[in-house]
Amino acid sequence: MRKKIVAGNWKMNKNLQEGIELAKELNEALSADKPNCDVVICTPFIHLAKVSEIIDHETIGLGAENCADKQKGAYTGEVSAEMVKSTGAEYVILGHSERREYYNETPEILKEKVLLALENGLKVIFCIGESLEQREKNQQNEVVKAELEGSVFNLSKEEFANIVIAYEPIWAIGTGKTATSEQAEEIHAYIRSVIEEKYGKETAENTSILYGGSCKASNAPELFAKPDIDGGLIGGASLKCADFKGIIDAWK
Ligand code: 13P
Repeated sequence: MRKKIVAGNWKMNKNLQEGIELAKELNEALSADKPNCDVVICTPFIHLAKVSEIIDHETIGLGAENCADKQKGAYTGEVSAEMVKSTGAEYVILGHSERREYYNETPEILKEKVLLALENGLKVIFCIGESLEQREKNQQNEVVKAELEGSVFNLSKEEFANIVIAYEPIWAIGTGKTATSEQAEEIHAYIRSVIEEKYGKETAENTSILYGGSCKASNAPELFAKPDIDGGLIGGASLKCADFKGIIDAWK
């Protein structure tokens, strides 16, 4: 059975003290009231080591929001997958549309990052999703398929077992405009069918596919009720403990 996951993506929002506070609050809230799903928080690099000491890893997984496309060496300012892993993190988000768009991360770069993350024992939350313009031209299916083919379909079946997919329509990220549960289910089912074509039914059934884009406590229950939506990747609503817990509780 595939995992139900609610993952937070803090993005570039909290300084170290604020991040520590949020991690403590969340750890307390979820220790007192155990979640019915896997919970992951993906934080900026600077928070990882400290947050790793604070959280109970049985209840909350930890992830980075990025890692380098090089193994090691003279790459000033970069943080390698091995370094991420050494903090106690278990996950890394790769392929987020913000990194593709603002930092010119191409499918080839992402392919390298995915390989390095897996080699270093990290699970990858791999993001895919179309722009508004592509949705208006009804190109969403070909876009997500090409994103999978470009960066993760080179993996073996065994490697692919460590990939979580996050479908995040760019037009829904931070806009308050969520995909309807029907729109999301339709493309999640399509994504699962593409995975099945590539890796077979068992792998497709075991792959968690998360929805991201203005997901909040009010719309999470309807989204998570759909058969191919296995949880969420949460931006804005992961920055406050009560908001994030409200989404986690949608699985109850
Ligand atoms: P929002 O939840 O703020 O729309 O962000 C979604 C996202 O990009 C998560 O990676």
